[in-house]
Amino acid sequence: MLNIAVLVSGGGTNLQALIDAQNRGEIPNGHISLVIASKPDAYALKRAEKAGIPTAVLRRKQFSSQEAYDDALLQKLAENRTSLVILAGFLTIISNRVIHAYENQILNIHPSLIPSFCGEGYYGLRVHEEALRRGVKVTGATVHFVNEVCDGGPIILQKAVAVQSGDTPEVLQRRVMEQAEWKLLPKAAALFCAGRLVVKDGRVEIKEEAE
Ligand code: GAR
Repeated sequence: MLNIAVLVSGGGTNLQALIDAQNRGEIPNGHISLVIASKPDAYALKRAEKAGIPTAVLRRKQFSSQEAYDDALLQKLAENRTSLVILAGFLTIISNRVIHAYENQILNIHPSLIPSFCGEGYYGLRVHEEALRRGVKVTGATVHFVNEVCDGGPIILQKAVAVQSGDTPEVLQRRVMEQAEWKLLPKAAALFCAGRLVVKDGRVEIKEEAE
């Protein structure tokens, strides 16, 4: 059983999707054992507490340097004996030191079909505003491994979602969450924990399920 740490900043609907999937037995080789929030008022913390998952709050601004913040984050992850880190709407930038400590062990969910509408500054509602501004007819979500390039790591799973006429950023965000994010993230976590994700030449191969 692999220990999973989920890092959150906001409402935590993706965290909830992971908790629900775990409760349905859909992540058989993993266990969410820690939730770390970047701010104390993140509603995601309430969801974790309700599910009986230990929580911690690490605010970047409470640390005098990036190094001190990284020390604290790495210590929390180590104490938890973390095998998988999941960024589920986590807005604090993860430094290269942390990325290297957990190379190909950090998953991120992004609310677009990467490489569209991603990279620095593209988070949350902003992504959907830009998709609507550009007039794309299809958008979606992507789960990828985290590397040094913002939203540039190896892609694990993607799912397309139709844009509909009259969509507002909020309506589109909700549809992308319901139809793509809440399904993809637990699925990617389960694949990782089952040892089925292989990274080769910057791409992810999904191994067949063992008999
Ligand atoms: C989600 O839509 C997630 O894809 C997005 O933030 C939202 C968090 O919602 N992440 C990014 O934009 C990362 N660049 P949640 O707190 O309800 O899971």
